[in-house]
Amino acid sequence: MLPIRVLFISLGNICRSPMAAAIMQRYLKSQKIENSFIVDSAGTSSYHTTSTPDDRSIDIANTKGIQLSHNQARMFEGSDFDRYDFLLVMDHINYEDVLNLSKNKLRDKEKVFLLRSFEVGNQDNFSIPDPYYGVTDDFEEVFKICERSIVGFIKFLSSKQHLLAKNDQEHIYKHQ
Ligand code: 4NP
Repeated sequence: MLPIRVLFISLGNICRSPMAAAIMQRYLKSQKIENSFIVDSAGTSSYHTTSTPDDRSIDIANTKGIQLSHNQARMFEGSDFDRYDFLLVMDHINYEDVLNLSKNKLRDKEKVFLLRSFEVGNQDNFSIPDPYYGVTDDFEEVFKICERSIVGFIKFLSSKQHLLAKNDQEHIYKHQ
């Protein structure tokens, strides 16, 4: 059985996306389904390529028992459309930047989702705010939004049982 491949994407790949990837990995482990997934993160800019996550993301994750200091930022590239099943972006700007690198927008659009659109109970604000120029509380808020959204995303996948038993056929994913 092939794993489901998930890539979290933010602008810098040092604040939101590495945090989201680490939250997802911990959640999968807690459910004992980590072997069914490949999870990584990337940034739409090269501002921080090869940097480790922002200290404030590392600190907030630490307070929740999650280690994320090992992540090394990298830039999103067009080939990631082929390498991943789900591209989960943090905001509308990421969404546009990611799709601008697609050579086949109609096909690739099916894989790109605003992570926050999976947040349970949220019906109007689908962007996860950029905390880079913010304070500790902003990072705490981002952490909580990511947690709720990831729980929603896993629920969404569970409702599509065939995705969790993914084989080597091509799937078209629809967010309903
Ligand atoms: P991220 O945060 O996109 O959540 O990783 C940011 C990191 C760096 C910058 C902006 C946002 N920056 O402008 O350098």
